[in-house]
Amino acid sequence: IDAHSTYHQLRYHVNKILEPLTTSISNNNNNSNEITNNNNTSGYQPLFTGVTVPKIKADYSISNTFQLSRQLGGDNKKIVEQMRQLIQKDIDENRDGMSLIKDVSVEKNFVNVSLSQDYLEQSLAVWLKGEAPLYELTKQHKQSLQLPLEPKEVLVDFASPNMSKELHVGHLRSLALGESVCRILEYRNHRVERVSHAGDFGTPMGMVISYALENKAEFLRHIWDKQSGLSSMPFIPTPKQLSTIYSDAKKLTKTDSEFSKRAHLAAAELQKGPPTTTSGDNNNGGSDPDIYRAWLDLMDINVKERGESWYREMLEPAIEELRSLNMVSESEGAVCVFLEDQKTPVIIKKSDGAYLYATTDIAAIKNRLVTNKKQWVIIITDDSQKQHFQQVFTIAQLAGWYRPDTEHRVDHLSFGVVRGENGLKLSSREGDPLALEELLQEAIQRAKDATITSRSLTRAEKLDQTHTAQQLDGADRVEDRFELDQYNTWEHYRKIGLGAIKYFDLSQRSNSYTFSFDRMLSFKGNTSIYILYCYTRISTLMKRAQFDINAIDLNTFKFKEFSEKERKLVLMISKFPDVIRATESTLRPAVLCDYLWDISDCFHHFYESERVIGSDTMVQKLLIAHVIQNIINTGFHLLGLETVDRL
Ligand code: ARG
Repeated sequence: IDAHSTYHQLRYHVNKILEPLTTSISNNNNNSNEITNNNNTSGYQPLFTGVTVPKIKADYSISNTFQLSRQLGGDNKKIVEQMRQLIQKDIDENRDGMSLIKDVSVEKNFVNVSLSQDYLEQSLAVWLKGEAPLYELTKQHKQSLQLPLEPKEVLVDFASPNMSKELHVGHLRSLALGESVCRILEYRNHRVERVSHAGDFGTPMGMVISYALENKAEFLRHIWDKQSGLSSMPFIPTPKQLSTIYSDAKKLTKTDSEFSKRAHLAAAELQKGPPTTTSGDNNNGGSDPDIYRAWLDLMDINVKERGESWYREMLEPAIEELRSLNMVSESEGAVCVFLEDQKTPVIIKKSDGAYLYATTDIAAIKNRLVTNKKQWVIIITDDSQKQHFQQVFTIAQLAGWYRPDTEHRVDHLSFGVVRGENGLKLSSREGDPLALEELLQEAIQRAKDATITSRSLTRAEKLDQTHTAQQLDGADRVEDRFELDQYNTWEHYRKIGLGAIKYFDLSQRSNSYTFSFDRMLSFKGNTSIYILYCYTRISTLMKRAQFDINAIDLNTFKFKEFSEKERKLVLMISKFPDVIRATESTLRPAVLCDYLWDISDCFHHFYESERVIGSDTMVQKLLIAHVIQNIINTGFHLLGLETVDRL
């Protein structure tokens, strides 16, 4: 069990308490799902797994009591009452020691439990004891708090742009999701390798190169210069130039079938590898030097991690292996894999000898799982590629490279389209796909406008809340004394603006969403701004209280019984490890976003209704606030965002 997971602790604890009830079943019925007594593994095996966070009033509930009643063949009411009694007895007997559960009650078929003050204090202490610059804390936590039972070798395939096209908002999705997933996995102590499977090899690349060569594109001037006896340095096309070439080339392939053929040939040329080398086994002649040269020039403009071309040498051997396993057949000159239940085969080599996107992914999955022994491969793309990856995974499984039951986990994480407010795919004013760069620049400008406007609003106006607490006026005044200039920088607004876009993207529940600067930069709702506002409120509070956490001896500090609102906050804090686990297992950063939103919401409510400075539990309130700030900071880091001290 994970000592810091409230859920695991509770489950463990409750199972022990309920043993008198459950042993009778496990003796004569050891193959049921929910309740098992598995003797062949060492260590504790949970008998009862139904502890959940309820929607009702309690902290946690035992929700699957019906299952137990069915197992016991008894009346649910009675069983539930028996459970309550067993838990109550445990509470009574533990009165002097540290007990996890404070209260137990029955509500319908649920057995509700609430956590003890001791336990809640402990989950605060974990954060407080790790005190250091906020980031150190993250590292410490990695060791003390979050260790997964088995760290895995993970490969995350994300970003993966097609080199011949300009980056657009879709790439942001892959980047934001990929980066966050990697950070969460690393936080859970997995070893993560990040790979961008850039499209540097296929037909689009062939199109661009042919077009650029045939139209003597500026950026290839050194090739023309060389031909005319002059020499000049290659120069690098801007993303804009490149995407112009791409869209012109694409138009041409539609109208000019001869050009289209030449583009396909150019792609096939590239796949032969560098012009001077010949690869022994598959008698490659190497590419046409000009095509190859143009390709190298194109590559220069982007960070190349591990593009499709990296797998070049593995393509033919992979096909041969599938052939030896009798998995391929020839159809009209092309090499195909026919899969059960599928009308069309997966083509892995065309009749003209060119390899395809699927071929690369087949070679890649073998390389990742077999050669590099990754245990978990996560590929992030838009959801139009679902079928493609299903096919690749099936082929890998049939070939025996991918063994899902025993060794590997593979995930295709997919995302949908980002729509503009007109309901169509997000595009620029001219109707082209909106370039990422433009979008980000606009976000920064808008973040600036939004925060500057908000500075003239009162707190109540920002959050649209009414509140009575007196301390707010004081806080407002102190905030006004802040040196605004130091926050009026491009860097500051970049953090806010880009963070808002990423957060908006990561927090979405559905795959596709509508892009809206107004919503993502709002102080209301599930936005990074709402959370940042909580963070900056705490910064201001700390300044005002002149609070120095190092001046407090945490070993001797005694907490008073939490007030209802304090307790709510600490309860939220105690859920953090479980939230991280849930985010890891679902690979959905939205889970973490929801949590950060919730905890900020709790804090805003707390702050607006309870006096902090000058109250008799001021220090403990500040300690709680401090931990919340740490949590937001850690959470933001895991989402790939940065916090700021002032909005
Ligand atoms: N370059 C591809 C695209 O832009 C995504 C590559 C994803 N990764 C992979 N292994 N196929 O659509």
